[in-house]
Amino acid sequence: MTDDHSPIPAVEGFRGAAALVRAMARFGRKRLAIALTFLVLGNVTEGVSILLLLPILTLAGQGSSDYAIDLGGRHLFGQPLPDVSIGLEVLLGAIVLLVALQAAFNRVKAVYLSDLLQDFANSTRAGLFSAVASARWETVVRMRRADLEHALTGEIDRITFSGFVSLSLIQILVGLVIYFVLCLAVSVPMTLFAFGFGLVALLLLKPYRKLAERYGHKIQTARTVQARLVSEFITGLKTARSMNQEPHHVAQFERTLDGTKADAHDYARRNALGNGLFQVALAIGAAAFVLLSLRFVGLEMSQMLVLLVILMRVTPRFQGLQAQVQALLVDLPAWWRVVDLQSRLEANREGGAGFVSAPVAPPRHEILLDRVTYRHTEGSEEAALNDCTIRLPVGRATALIGASGAGKSTVADIVMGLIRPEAGRLLVDGHELTESERRGWREHLAYVPQETFLLHDTIRANLAIVAPDATEEEMHQALADAAADRFVAALPEGLDTRVGDRGTLLSGGERQRIALARAFLKRPAVLILDEATSALDWESQSRVAQALARRAGEMTVLTIAHRPSMVAFADHVYSLEAGRVVEEGPMADLLRKTDGHLSRMFAHEASEPARLRLAQ
Ligand SMILES: Nc1ncnc2c1ncn2[C@@H]1O[C@H](COP(=O)(O)OP(=O)(O)OP(=O)(O)O)[C@@H](O)[C@H]1O
Ligand SMILES: [Mg+2]
Repeated sequence: MTDDHSPIPAVEGFRGAAALVRAMARFGRKRLAIALTFLVLGNVTEGVSILLLLPILTLAGQGSSDYAIDLGGRHLFGQPLPDVSIGLEVLLGAIVLLVALQAAFNRVKAVYLSDLLQDFANSTRAGLFSAVASARWETVVRMRRADLEHALTGEIDRITFSGFVSLSLIQILVGLVIYFVLCLAVSVPMTLFAFGFGLVALLLLKPYRKLAERYGHKIQTARTVQARLVSEFITGLKTARSMNQEPHHVAQFERTLDGTKADAHDYARRNALGNGLFQVALAIGAAAFVLLSLRFVGLEMSQMLVLLVILMRVTPRFQGLQAQVQALLVDLPAWWRVVDLQSRLEANREGGAGFVSAPVAPPRHEILLDRVTYRHTEGSEEAALNDCTIRLPVGRATALIGASGAGKSTVADIVMGLIRPEAGRLLVDGHELTESERRGWREHLAYVPQETFLLHDTIRANLAIVAPDATEEEMHQALADAAADRFVAALPEGLDTRVGDRGTLLSGGERQRIALARAFLKRPAVLILDEATSALDWESQSRVAQALARRAGEMTVLTIAHRPSMVAFADHVYSLEAGRVVEEGPMADLLRKTDGHLSRMFAHEASEPARLRLAQ
């Protein structure tokens, strides 16, 4: 996989948060609407219960023993209230009722928001997962595996956190609007003063939001680097340890950790200063508020007390707004990274957007690479395949030989429709496969590479992936054809033995044989073996070759190998050199050519032991 770290798109503070909220709303619009409704109801009931304190506070110091509250002569939002008197018990009862209602509304809101958040995180992850699964092979292969793994596993917590913070922001904003309206009911000038002060303070804190944004990008990059280091270290652990390279890896990792710590320290220091300044500014605002309302606006003490109670709820909300936006900005790059990866993968979806896989009939005559040219890297001078014509007649075995790097695996990728020729065509019975037929085409294929892939499960489960309905008998036959029957029978639990993480409890050759058996079990129309027996002893290799020869006519086989035994059973041979076909013909004809590539390969293998003995 090649390096591909595109810059994370720059997003500005509140706009980034808004984009995230829109994304959440896209698939949970109804739930978000319900949650917001209950959020508003919760805030309104809370606010009204506070407003009810106003008449109660007017009782203070009155010395009346009936504690009845006269509404006559009072105003709310400029409207006179009816001339009635309410008992203190009724008022207190109303407050308790409102608080109970508020608790009930909050409960509904919390459940809806939690579901929304969970679905958002899941759909983000599932969306990326399926984008990786359905993107064109060229696109996936150019991305770094560690980046994809990190995006799918490591980033998701930060995305969930961002979603949570966005929802908190909505709650805070809704709360502020409601309190704004309620405050207006008590005093218009003082409300404008208090909220105006809060807004100005928020505007002045923009540099601190920029700081959070920069820090977010820094830790995003650091985490990506760390994920890559971890992935490389774990993948190459055996090699690293065998060459005493662990200290180098550990030191490299520690350096990135130190860098992260220094960034975190710097951010925490500056951020604390910003928060402190904000806190002081809000305290100055509150002091000015009290002074203004008593000395200049002439509010009654009871009104002032209620406004103060409301302000005690509004101030933390302003503080929360700033703190939550900053927290969001720190974690938002994780979401942008996933969105960016996903959109690049989706733009390169195999078959294009809205693709529906079209069924393809198995080949009846031949598969043809017709003058195919392919470059792994766009614009590079060297083509991995250059004007190659290779014919795979149905029911026959065709061998592909050539030095390392000659282009053999690239041919296999073309045949599988994983990559598209830059020039030339892949024809199946004369028909060029369309993009939407590539998946359908692969239904007929089985591919066994040198690097096998086994699930961390039993041998039986590993075989059953391709043929869930296979009988025990069919499994044993496939194992026998892959020369795996004896070693599997000797395992303590036979077919039910677990193979370990990626098959690490088996030897390299044993893994290859299970992978071969799996391919045989699929009974594919086309079998592609890309150095699939490279780790096998000569005896096992010749058993596999015999099985393939026995199945001649049943399948179309493309065998790519460096050893004669895995080539000898082929009917036809192509020899590649630097991406070009330099020799081709029926096996028997090519073997007769004394100076041909194939005959040299066979002669070399036969004479190698003798030459080595001579050299001693
Ligand atoms: N993903 C890739 N990106 C860039 N270049 C690549 C990629 N895969 C292969 N190549 C290059 O393309 C050429 C052909 O590679 P290919 O894997 O087809 O060779 P091969 O004949 O299968 O070799 P081997 O016998 O070593 O497996 C090589 O020069 C290789 O370096
Ligand atoms: Mg290869």
